[in-house]
Amino acid sequence: DIVSALPRENGWKAYGDICFYKGFWCYSYLLEGAIFAQDHYKAQPTDIFICSVPKSGTTWLKALTFSIVTRIQFNKSTTPLHTQNPHTCVPVLERYFSRKGIKPGPGSLPLMSTHMPYASLPKSIIDSGCKIVYICREPKDSFVSLGHYASKLRAGLQEPMSLEECFEFFCKGVSDYGPYWDHLLGYWKASLEQPEKILFLKYEDLIKDTPFYVKKIAEFMGYPFSLEEEKEGEIQEIVEFCSFGNMSNLEVSKTGKSADDNIGVDIKTFYRKGKVGDWKNYLTPEMIERLDKITKQKLGDSGLSFDEI
Ligand code: A3P
Repeated sequence: DIVSALPRENGWKAYGDICFYKGFWCYSYLLEGAIFAQDHYKAQPTDIFICSVPKSGTTWLKALTFSIVTRIQFNKSTTPLHTQNPHTCVPVLERYFSRKGIKPGPGSLPLMSTHMPYASLPKSIIDSGCKIVYICREPKDSFVSLGHYASKLRAGLQEPMSLEECFEFFCKGVSDYGPYWDHLLGYWKASLEQPEKILFLKYEDLIKDTPFYVKKIAEFMGYPFSLEEEKEGEIQEIVEFCSFGNMSNLEVSKTGKSADDNIGVDIKTFYRKGKVGDWKNYLTPEMIERLDKITKQKLGDSGLSFDEI
């Protein structure tokens, strides 16, 4: 039941093949880990999962949650984020989960991440008392971010794809862990049913008022800021350290590779512009109309919507 979307004669490399497996599209190099995690991962009630569809602000949310959870141990000068990228600090379940079941990453933190759709999560994540912080992003911005990643940034991992080619696939639901809208809806509906388990965030809201959401995320995860910490400016310090300007200028972001997996993507590919509304610079009126129409149809009366930008 694994279907490949991209004919090899187009020059797709083996690990760049995207496959449809039990309801979602996944690059073949991640699929084995995803299936293994589904079958074997035993979530602990103390685990906290950072979940998202790629290009929604995952890297940022990982830096924020890692900083919140480790703030007693580290400050802005000593945080491991200076030398290890957020994807190492908050490991990706389907990428890093070893067959021995050992969690990598610094120390024994409760933080893990996954791009798997809600319906495909290992059963123990759904059944245990563990928490999920989900981030999503307005589809046009997410697509433009993905399009850049697919066209240039991910070069080496797969054959580059034009923005137009990527758009066709995206609209048909063929994108990393897509269909994109189904991913959002899965977590959205689950968050309505279990608000104490799933915190559903939008990238745009996080940009608008980062300190408010940092406080909210910390409370949700069970790491609330004390009044004293608030007075001492702890929230602001985390907001500033994790800002696009600061994170993208760290040496590790400019030169590092995610070498701890076997793919070795340049860390700088996770930082492009970090803006809301960049789609205006890339999409034609036809593309905008088509994507907006799909979004409207897919999200329907679910209650999930995105502000007009
Ligand atoms: P753009 O390509 O629009 O710039 P992900 O981490 O899920 O792959 O998402 C990547 C997107 O988040 C990219 O968007 C990237 O620039 C943006 N991003 C990365 N770090 C960020 C930060 N600290 N603050 C805001 N946006 C950030």
